[in-house]
Amino acid sequence: MSTEAGGEKVRMHIDPTERAWIRVAIVVLVIFALAITVAGFMLGIQVPTEEQRVDPRTIGDAAPWAAPAADEEGDPRIQELVPGEKYAVYIIAKMWLFAPSQVPTPESGIEIPAGAEVTFYVTSTDVQHGFKVQNTNVNFMAVPGEVSTLTTEFDEPGTYDFICTEYCGTGHAAMFGSITITE
Ligand code: CUA
Repeated sequence: MSTEAGGEKVRMHIDPTERAWIRVAIVVLVIFALAITVAGFMLGIQVPTEEQRVDPRTIGDAAPWAAPAADEEGDPRIQELVPGEKYAVYIIAKMWLFAPSQVPTPESGIEIPAGAEVTFYVTSTDVQHGFKVQNTNVNFMAVPGEVSTLTTEFDEPGTYDFICTEYCGTGHAAMFGSITITE
């Protein structure tokens, strides 16, 4: 760095140690920028977005969040948007379970086939919970009053467990469920 002083060029004095730390800071910033680029564009990691604001006291009473009535066909919480390709799943987290905790339930008759795109809409009706689907990029908070959403693809058939990742009280360890992906 240099400045003009009395028509003469003077090199600004920077202590060698400080100069070294400035270099380190620049390298760290470049590493962070690369990490974000790799995570976002190569690994498909997304930041969960806030889809909408809802009333946590009544959210579970109506479709698509409500449990199906006894005479109802299928589960409104698991929606087949494009058969075999696109699905939407609505999950409520509350002390201390996920509803529905089996996605799909054996009775729902809906199965999510491998390779389909699944969008999760998750909210909480009481305290802050977490929602993490093992072996996928789905991992976010379930906050009362807000709907968090994230889209993922299940390429391999099998059972995918999901768990609560925020400590939410004595039943925290019992908050889990599973998603079945068929061939
Ligand atoms: Cu819900 Cu921990």
